[in-house]
Amino acid sequence: MISYKIKNLFLVYNITDYTGGENMKIISLVGARPQFIKEAVINRALKEKENITEIIVHSGQHYDVNMSDIFFTTLGINHPDYYMNVGSGRHGEMTGKIMIGFEEIVLKENPDAVLVYGDTNTTVAGALVAAKLKIPVYHVEAGIRQQPKDMPEEINRVITDRISQKLFCASQLSVENLKKENITEGVAFTGDVMNDLYKIMEKDFKYDIFSELGLEENNYILMTMHRDFNVDNPEKLEKIINQTEKISQEKEIVFSVHPRTKKRLESLKLTEKLKKVKIIEPIDYLNLMGLTKNSWKVITDSGGLQKECYFAGKKGIILMPDTGWRELIIKNWNTLADENNLYEKTFNTKNAEYPTGIFGNADAGKKIADLI
Ligand code: UD1
Repeated sequence: MISYKIKNLFLVYNITDYTGGENMKIISLVGARPQFIKEAVINRALKEKENITEIIVHSGQHYDVNMSDIFFTTLGINHPDYYMNVGSGRHGEMTGKIMIGFEEIVLKENPDAVLVYGDTNTTVAGALVAAKLKIPVYHVEAGIRQQPKDMPEEINRVITDRISQKLFCASQLSVENLKKENITEGVAFTGDVMNDLYKIMEKDFKYDIFSELGLEENNYILMTMHRDFNVDNPEKLEKIINQTEKISQEKEIVFSVHPRTKKRLESLKLTEKLKKVKIIEPIDYLNLMGLTKNSWKVITDSGGLQKECYFAGKKGIILMPDTGWRELIIKNWNTLADENNLYEKTFNTKNAEYPTGIFGNADAGKKIADLI
């Protein structure tokens, strides 16, 4: 996919010519790591529909090989038909660039609907472009709500849901959240596409990394962290790292470090504190799920991983003041934690029955394709 990259954002790259005809034409806009995972399920489900053509557009929000290409390869997703080279930047800058490039594509393709995923800047940019062109917006993973209200993802969700025509909800709580905002039309509980993917790919999960790192089965913590409220505040980040260091004295930790976090840790010289922690680069879905499945517990601020650890039957310590996946907190499966109590929360999780049925029956992809 790398070879498709172009320097000039406005010269978007068209790889396939579509004939249109009787077909319904859908554009899927993706760009960040969690969206590739969701797209993997939708891409499969839409391939089953003879009358739907899906055009995949990649915004380029995530561009490192192990943040992007690796997901297309390992999950068998069609290569993007268009790649916009927006890269990283300030929120307005990134959202604006995606909007400018995406509008050109939408005008050229004139799709019947635009599918957006989750809550990133790519999501909101795509939704705004389509809505202004009066093209229906379909939102996969609609209705998630959480505090703080000013976090970028929450802003993206609220705006996207408000201007979507079809809102595919991963859980009943998401449906309820939308109801509270008087959004009921076009809302459907489909279940979670990430639950589908976990079940589809489970037999292919990889464990090589597990032995390479010399880990003891069910006896280590898998950690990830990338949220702005955790990593952009040096004082808070240092406290989290101090707690992590304390945990690592008692339990092995594997920390898969997001590029954003890596930069912060290096500039604050905090990596030095993590001598006992196994620090690894971001890894692909199959390896990450292998690590999750064999872990003791998971510490994360990732929206996706906090569900995936639940799918794997592992408890999550969620480094967030609140989460969009409150169901798992209410049922005492996952636990919220902060920079002051991470150590304590990690070792003192509540006992709980494994909650079932929250995210549907692993047929969300099919349900969404049928609704489209
Ligand atoms: C974004 C999403 C977040 C999602 C996360 C998954 C928004 C507002 N947030 O956060 O919802 O959970 O993706 O990872 O859209 N960087 C690289 N290489 C890359 C990508 C990013 O080095 O391939 C670095 C850059 O320094 C960049 C920083 O990471 O500035 C942050 O990237 P960005 O896409 O802005 O936000 P994420 O933290 O990844």
